[in-house]
Amino acid sequence: MATGRNRRIKGVEDSIRDTEEPEHQLKKNLSALDLTVFGVGVIIGTGIFVLTGEVAKTTAGPAVALSFVIAGIVCGLAALCYAEFASTVPVAGSAYTFSYATLGELIAWIIGWDLVLELALGAATVSVGWSGYLNQLLGDLGIPLPTSIAGEDATVNIPAIVIALLMTAVLVLGIKLSSRITSVIVGIKIFIVLLVIVVGLFYVKADNYAPFVPEAAPGEDASGWTAPLIQLIAGFTPTTFGVGGIITGASIVFFAFIGFDIVATAAEETRQPARDLPRGIIGSLAICTLLYVAVSLVVVGMQPYAELSVTAPLADAFRSVGLSFVSSLISVGALAGLTSVVMILMLGQSRVLFAMSRDHLLPPSIGDVHPRYGTPYKITIGTGIVVALLAGFLPISALSELVNIGTLFAFILVSVGVVVLRRTRPDLPRSFRVPLMPVLPIVSALACFYLMLNLPAETWARFAVWMALGVGVYAGYSRRHSRLAAGGDHDPATAADRERARGSR
Ligand code: ALA
Repeated sequence: MATGRNRRIKGVEDSIRDTEEPEHQLKKNLSALDLTVFGVGVIIGTGIFVLTGEVAKTTAGPAVALSFVIAGIVCGLAALCYAEFASTVPVAGSAYTFSYATLGELIAWIIGWDLVLELALGAATVSVGWSGYLNQLLGDLGIPLPTSIAGEDATVNIPAIVIALLMTAVLVLGIKLSSRITSVIVGIKIFIVLLVIVVGLFYVKADNYAPFVPEAAPGEDASGWTAPLIQLIAGFTPTTFGVGGIITGASIVFFAFIGFDIVATAAEETRQPARDLPRGIIGSLAICTLLYVAVSLVVVGMQPYAELSVTAPLADAFRSVGLSFVSSLISVGALAGLTSVVMILMLGQSRVLFAMSRDHLLPPSIGDVHPRYGTPYKITIGTGIVVALLAGFLPISALSELVNIGTLFAFILVSVGVVVLRRTRPDLPRSFRVPLMPVLPIVSALACFYLMLNLPAETWARFAVWMALGVGVYAGYSRRHSRLAAGGDHDPATAADRERARGSR
């Protein structure tokens, strides 16, 4: 630990030692394969099943495949940084824990607060998408639910509430059970995605790829708040399509890649985290990137981009070529696929809050681990209720960009943090090291920032309000209650820590 008037840093050894406290100990059950399955389970979801259609139709045209390539490269850079961090600080909490060990308590708090956007809001967004798919399928069977209680425009979105609460129960019962369910779901999901690629290939028409990059056109309502911030800053007339459309598309389909970072939140539940975490993170991201590019190329080849569905583009492309059975199969697969995304996003959220409560930035009593199931049950249940309420009562889809901006911000801090930790703690063992240090992490941070700038100005405003609220909570509660506040119960652990403690005063 190091405490200073302006900066508190929690030593890496302190973080690791915390995980050994009996009342805060999670079961170590997961292997590299479990982690990769976990990663794929949370990565493939609304992004590929829903956003592909919207982005192709309104933003990038058939070049949506290039949007996926760009977003995949940006995520790949960040994934390397996450992998080094996770192999060095294998502690629950992901970006939150990493920044506590490098950039200090205030930044760590900001990141923890920011991750709520990615995880809880992300889970709520996908729950609403799940409800939409369920109703689509029930509609195929001739028994649709009234739109007042299901789907995007529902007053009270009952299926979204039910899926969030059901997944909460699974999580409380234990991580091994969760990962078993996930394996089955991931199998179905990969089967469906491969089905789309292999069968769809026979229905691709070359004509649908022309023009591959539609000419830039004035954006319909892209003035002011809804225009990408970068266009407003640069004083451009807001446009869609063209090269700009490909980049804007990348900032939206970025949602499809969210999740590889969540693998790092399961660090404490991994048998050999230093070796297996980098494998799980990079492996799952690589698999998903390949699948996304292939799926998007096939789908825009099957149907003219202007005719793609914005709610169920994959299923609809097959319907458009007369394969209704395959179309329904895809809907079932998407439904199963979204289930695991909701579950793992909530898992990540509960682990981040768990780490924050262990550091007393949130009340410590909420971090109790269940004596029988070995899971942080109070936090898990609390997270589930909040996600269910958000999903049940808010039209979340418009806020998915808020999920993206929050996640990109976390990626920036992790990229910066990895450089800082190399300098402050070169002595720590790292089983995975980012190549081209420090160029790669710097490029990663800049690339994430560039994607952030391509998100709408209104998203930036919402992000600013949420973060300002977080700083207020830190000043009012967390700073005083922190374990690193005066009289906290951590002692500087090592000579290096004591040295840094002196240095930061
Ligand atoms: N990547 C996840 C999805 O696309 C969040 O649903």
